Amino acid sequence: MTQSPASSPPPEQVLLVDDNATNLQMLFHTLKGRGYKLLIAGSGEQALSIAQKAHPALMLLDIMMPGMDGFKVCERLKNDPQTRDVTVIFLSALTDTDDKVRGFRLGAVDFVSKPFQAGEVTARVDTHLKIHRLEQNLARRNRELELLRDQILRAMREGVFGVDGAGRVIFVNHAAAQMSGWTEGELVGRILDEAHNGDHLLPLLGAEVRKTLTDARMRSGEQARFQSRDGSTFPVEYSIAPTGAEGEITGAVVVFKDISERARAQAELKRIHEALLNSHQDLQEAQMRLIQAAKLESVGRLAAGVAHEVKNPLAVIQLGLDYLSNSLPEDAVTAGVLTDMADAVTRADTVIMGLLDFSREHRLELKETGLNEVIRDSLQLVQHELTQHNIRLELDLDDCIPRLGLDPNRMQQVFINLFMNAVHAIEKDGVLRVESRLETLEPGNLDKHLESEGFQADKPVIRVNVEDTACGIESGGEDKVFDPFFTTKPTGEGTGLGLSVTQNIIKLHRGSIRIRNREAGGAAVTILFKAAAGSR
Ligand SMILES: Nc1ncnc2c1ncn2[C@@H]1O[C@H](COP(=O)(O)OP(=O)(O)OP(=O)(O)O)[C@@H](O)[C@H]1O
Ligand SMILES: [Mg+2]
Repeated sequence: MTQSPASSPPPEQVLLVDDNATNLQMLFHTLKGRGYKLLIAGSGEQALSIAQKAHPALMLLDIMMPGMDGFKVCERLKNDPQTRDVTVIFLSALTDTDDKVRGFRLGAVDFVSKPFQAGEVTARVDTHLKIHRLEQNLARRNRELELLRDQILRAMREGVFGVDGAGRVIFVNHAAAQMSGWTEGELVGRILDEAHNGDHLLPLLGAEVRKTLTDARMRSGEQARFQSRDGSTFPVEYSIAPTGAEGEITGAVVVFKDISERARAQAELKRIHEALLNSHQDLQEAQMRLIQAAKLESVGRLAAGVAHEVKNPLAVIQLGLDYLSNSLPEDAVTAGVLTDMADAVTRADTVIMGLLDFSREHRLELKETGLNEVIRDSLQLVQHELTQHNIRLELDLDDCIPRLGLDPNRMQQVFINLFMNAVHAIEKDGVLRVESRLETLEPGNLDKHLESEGFQADKPVIRVNVEDTACGIESGGEDKVFDPFFTTKPTGEGTGLGLSVTQNIIKLHRGSIRIRNREAGGAAVTILFKAAAGSR
């Protein structure tokens, strides 16, 4: 494929205007052969008509002409957008300064005096053609740059606008106009932070732009809000840069971006993060409970091992004691020693039975049982203790509670443990209150633990409360009372297994047990069982 030679630009055109044919001829001869195309006109009217058609780069224009004179021609040229770029050099015999000033005001760039010198004419024409060429190039370059700027602004998803030193919008891109709710035409020419018919133009960013116009400092923000025409706001990220050079500020350019999506994503991320933290915490708690359970299990296993080992020697000792008490002579000292030994054996036996009880893998023997009956039977068994310690019983049992599948013996053990704890806590003179109720579990009373135990809000439950008027659980003991071997009783008096056995039995029944101190003093134990739906 052959390539066509690069076409050189067409020669520039110079239009010579004079009513005097001799002058025209002389000018023609002076300027011909210098690389530009010469056109000639013998009158002002002709000059205008040629200029409109041929668009010469330069015009040598005689001032004194019959009809339309040079000034008039120049004025017309400069007022017509099609011809205003032509460079005008006046040819004049005039030496009057006022006329020259008038010529310059009308847009001429130079004067050549008549009669002219050939050298001067060629020099001035060459120079002004060169300037004209540079100006044209500059104007073209400007147009290209403006076009490029417009294309960039149009392609940008960020909103961009510029203001002059007074805060007047001088340009705005499509995205900015769209986000603001105003059209480009409505925005350009208006002062940013001024109200128009009660409407503020970009009021929130406007204040920031005003600051930049005052202190000429660049500023940016990540969490600003942008208010659009309809009053709705959304978060934007923005930067405002002052424009101008060498300390003189001529305006500012603002770039901003709608970050609603990002803000939403960040909020969502935060929510997920928090949920993760929470579930991590839940996990840790569950882990702690597992560790605790595992610990208790090993304690239980150890206890069972020890109990079995000790039980047999203890039986041997008991037999020995029986033998000795029968065979030794009956004197007071011997009897005292033997009684102490027998008491010690009994005590050791109680502890061992407790240990075995605690560690035994319980199998419940469930049968339809009335909880109130179990409570009454248990009370009967501790009645003697209550009387002895002068403890008044307040019994408030709800006759409506349905019968439940329970192991009555194990439940009796539960209540005896609780009643005896109350007796020991009260020591002397006090009240033991036992209450049973069928009720609905209030949502406000449903906590995480109850939930993990399978309780649900608004479902029927059977509640039993055992309360006393003693001093309550000693401070620091609240979390430990259900731990095996935790006791505050003097050595030899309590095993510290009562409540852990109790808790095990309640758990086997899929119930819940809590102990807390009452505000009025004393401890309150609450046991909950799930009642069948429709029990109420
Ligand atoms: N009603 C109560 N008032 C005050 N403290 C109590 C009450 N019930 C239990 N406690 C505290 O909880 C501890 C543990 O009770 P738990 O029944 O497990 O063992 P114990 O009563 O000490 O021993 P044991 O049950 O073998 O007699 C008690 O030592 C006591 O400190
Ligand atoms: Mg006890």
